[in-house]
Amino acid sequence: MPSEASSVQKLSESFYTPFLSDVAKARLPSPIRSLLPLEATPGLLSLLAGKPNPTTFPFTSLSFTAHAPPSEDGKPAGHDIAVKVSGSDLAAGLQYGPTNGMTPLVDWFSDLQRAVHGRERGEGWALSVGSGSQDLLSKAIIALLNPGDAVLVQSPVYAGVIPLFHSLKCEQIEVEADAEGISTDSLRDTLNNWPADKPKPKVLYTIPYGGNPTGATATLERRREVLQLARQHNFLIMEDDPYYYLYYGNDAERPPSYFAMERADTSCAGHPVGRVLRFDSISKILSAGMRIGFASGPAPILRAIDAHTATANLQPSSLTQVIAHSLLNAWGFDGFLAHTRDVSKFYREKRDVFEAAMQRHLTGLAEWSAPQSGLFFWFKLLIPGADSASVVRAQAFERGVLALPGTVFLPNGRSTAYVRAAFSLLSPEEVDEALKRLRDTILDARAAATT
Ligand SMILES: Cc1ncc(COP(=O)(O)O)c(C=O)c1O
Repeated sequence: MPSEASSVQKLSESFYTPFLSDVAKARLPSPIRSLLPLEATPGLLSLLAGKPNPTTFPFTSLSFTAHAPPSEDGKPAGHDIAVKVSGSDLAAGLQYGPTNGMTPLVDWFSDLQRAVHGRERGEGWALSVGSGSQDLLSKAIIALLNPGDAVLVQSPVYAGVIPLFHSLKCEQIEVEADAEGISTDSLRDTLNNWPADKPKPKVLYTIPYGGNPTGATATLERRREVLQLARQHNFLIMEDDPYYYLYYGNDAERPPSYFAMERADTSCAGHPVGRVLRFDSISKILSAGMRIGFASGPAPILRAIDAHTATANLQPSSLTQVIAHSLLNAWGFDGFLAHTRDVSKFYREKRDVFEAAMQRHLTGLAEWSAPQSGLFFWFKLLIPGADSASVVRAQAFERGVLALPGTVFLPNGRSTAYVRAAFSLLSPEEVDEALKRLRDTILDARAAATT
């Protein structure tokens, strides 16, 4: 199965055929988009695509200012830089572009994957840009799963993927998670006790840093075990990682990503790479409204995702990609990474303020572990027989505070005493007031539960 095309041993293209869904296999290539790359042939006169003539577009230039990245030691630069998009860059931004993303941005992100995750180009993986990572997640799920397939899902899980699995009528096999991330005991038990006459799950969906909703980050040991189980039981890992760059830890060293580990971790030595499909997002670090995310992983799966894009939305927006690239190019990798450190510091401070208020108001009324990345606290209401849905949706709302009941993060939708609270936006004063209101709500609910 493995082939030895470069220095790294990788899984062969044919390895992925049984992993692709019937829909992905049946999808016809877009007749126009599949020929578009040929337009780059030197000397060619293209009569191919119905591209509008850009001289008819009214935009003549685009200028914006952005913060200069902080210095290495985290000091804010204190000034803005001016970025201008004009000429051929603007023309490209206003025109249709490649299905998998604008080439300069795809190249920038690919180089970032090399710098951050140690993945060299030409080692069997590809990268596509999407309209947010959600776009790519939904297309990947359609590319990999047939209706009714079993899928391993870290639980509790990002509420945005449950409807995707649900609409495909997938059997969502919940893999428990705790403060150390996904539970490998739960994963191992499930797989070791899998019925012999039933096809094993092909995919594990996991959020390794700052899991939404729990905020937990998987430890190095857990990650190693997950990779080992993936090889043993032959599944692919969907590593959904929008909180990677927000990691603030508990002063603990950041563990490497699955994408990095399958290439370089000693526990994976001697095994071919190609089991990890990684999803990154710029939503939490540059802008959520630009709708830009990128998927990196085995080329056959990325081709299936691109084939879906070619017929669904043709491509992510050229213009926001060109804007993002202009900024990233002006900053460079060092500037980008300095900015992400600044963002993670910002959220760490927000977390600390929120936790201090939790301690002031909810000690003895709720239980929690501090998140290590992301924007959320996940806590259990200490109310006898509590179903957080009724407490949060009705009683807390009446007292003027809103949070999400834990049930929406459970694939099987069972009731739970857990609640998710986002701490990204409120000021310290507002946090204090929100948690006071929550305390009063919990006290009422406890009184009601004991009468
Ligand atoms: C775990 C997870 N995955 C994916 C997404 C979607 O992010 P994007 O804005 O890149 O589509 C989110 C958004 O909150 C998320 O929490």
